[in-house]
Amino acid sequence: MQFIIKNIKGLIQAAENINNKVCGKEMSVLPIIENAYLIIQDGLIYDYGSMEHCPQIDGESIDASGKYVFPSYIDAHTHLVFAGSREKEFELRIKGASYEEIAAAGGGILNSAHKLKDASFESLYDAAYQRIMDLVKLGTGAIEIKSGYGLNLASEIKMLRVIKELKKNSPIKIKSTFLGAHAYPLAYKNNHEAYLDEIIQKMLPQIAEEDLADYIDVFCDRGFFSPEETDKILKAGISYGLKPRIHANELDYSGGIQVGVKNNALSVDHLEYTGDEEIKCLLQGNTMPILLPSTAFFLGLHYPPARKIIDSGLPLALASDYNPGSSPSGNMNFVLSLACIKLKMTPEEAINAGTINAACALELENSHGSISKGKVANLFITKEINSYQYIPYNFGHNNISSIILNGRVLNI
Ligand code: NIG
Ligand code: FE
Repeated sequence: MQFIIKNIKGLIQAAENINNKVCGKEMSVLPIIENAYLIIQDGLIYDYGSMEHCPQIDGESIDASGKYVFPSYIDAHTHLVFAGSREKEFELRIKGASYEEIAAAGGGILNSAHKLKDASFESLYDAAYQRIMDLVKLGTGAIEIKSGYGLNLASEIKMLRVIKELKKNSPIKIKSTFLGAHAYPLAYKNNHEAYLDEIIQKMLPQIAEEDLADYIDVFCDRGFFSPEETDKILKAGISYGLKPRIHANELDYSGGIQVGVKNNALSVDHLEYTGDEEIKCLLQGNTMPILLPSTAFFLGLHYPPARKIIDSGLPLALASDYNPGSSPSGNMNFVLSLACIKLKMTPEEAINAGTINAACALELENSHGSISKGKVANLFITKEINSYQYIPYNFGHNNISSIILNGRVLNI
C-alpha cells in the first residue's frame, strides 16, 4: 500500500543517514525540506523530496498545505504502568512538604507500590494501554516503560508481564526496563543487603527466564540507592544480558553519573545535579544524558544544566518521565516547550533531543527518530502554523492535526 503527502510546508528531520546521536553544536542543525512531498509504502518511509520533483503515484494523496510533518517523538523514560494517582502528595507539596520528606514518611514510590500490589493484571494493562494511546495522540511514536512500583518478586513480575503484553498489542514500539531498585521497601529499610539479594537472586533470574526486560535501571540518589549498591545491581543485570540505564543526580551529586558511565549505561537520566566533574566523566564515555524537565517543573526542583552539557560537546536527549509522583504528564510537546523555556535549548536542539537522540538512547536509531528512507512511518502532521518553532513556543496547546503510525493514518 502506497500513499503520498503533498505540499508539506516543512518536512522536519528529513535526510538520509540519520542514525547517530547528534552532539554539541550539531544539535542546532535540523534538516528540513520546505515545500516537500513524502511517500509512504508498506508502513515505511519510501521516498521524500521537494515538490519540484514530486512523482505521480496511483495511491491516495493527503494535502498538507501550510502544515509541517515531524517524525514522532521518542519518549525514552516513562513509568506509565501504575495504579491510582497521587494528588494527595501533590497537595502536601503545595503546602510545603518536599518530595524527599514524603518519600521518607512512606509515601511517594512506596505509596504507588502499595496501590499496585492489589491491582489486577487486567486493570494495570487497560489503564497503561489507554495512557499509551493518549500519548500517541500527542505525537509519541516509541516509548520506554519501567517497572519499579512492585518492589517484591510477584509485583515486579506482574508489572513486567503487563509491559510485555503492551509490547505485543501496542501500535508503537516499546522497550522494557526492570527497575526493582526504585526504592527500598519499608521492611528492608535497615537491611539493604537483603533487598539486593531479593533483586539479584530472585527477581533477575525469573525476569531472564521469561524474557521480561530489555534494560536494568536503579534510582541512584540520596536516600535511595548508593553508587556501590547501584554498581552491584547493574553488574548483576548485565550478567543476564540487561543493559543499564539509570536514574542519577536528581536530588544530589550522588555519584550516579559516574557509576552509570563506568558500567557503559545507555543513558543516565535526570541530572539536575551535574557539575564539571560529571561533565568530564560523560565526555569520556558513550552514555546519553537524558533530561526530564517536566519532573523539575512539577517538583519545583532546579533545572538541569542543559546548556553546559550541550556546550561541552555532549549529546542530550529529552523524555517525559511520565509517572504518578513526579511527572503526571507524558506530553512530549510540553517537554520540548520546557526544554526551550527553562533549559534554554533552541527549538532545533529540543527537536533533535526528542527524536534522533532519544531514539539512540533506546537503540532505535535505525528504525525511528527521523524521516529517512526505510524507517518506520511514524509521524505527525501539524495544524496550519507559521513555523516549526511554533510547536515549543505555543506551550500547552496541541497543534497536531493527524497522526500516522506504521504507515496508517490514525483516527484522532
Ligand atoms: O523518575 N526518581 C525516581 N523515580 C521517579 C519518581 C517516581 C515516583 O515518585 O513515583 C522519577 O522521578
Ligand atoms: Fe523516572
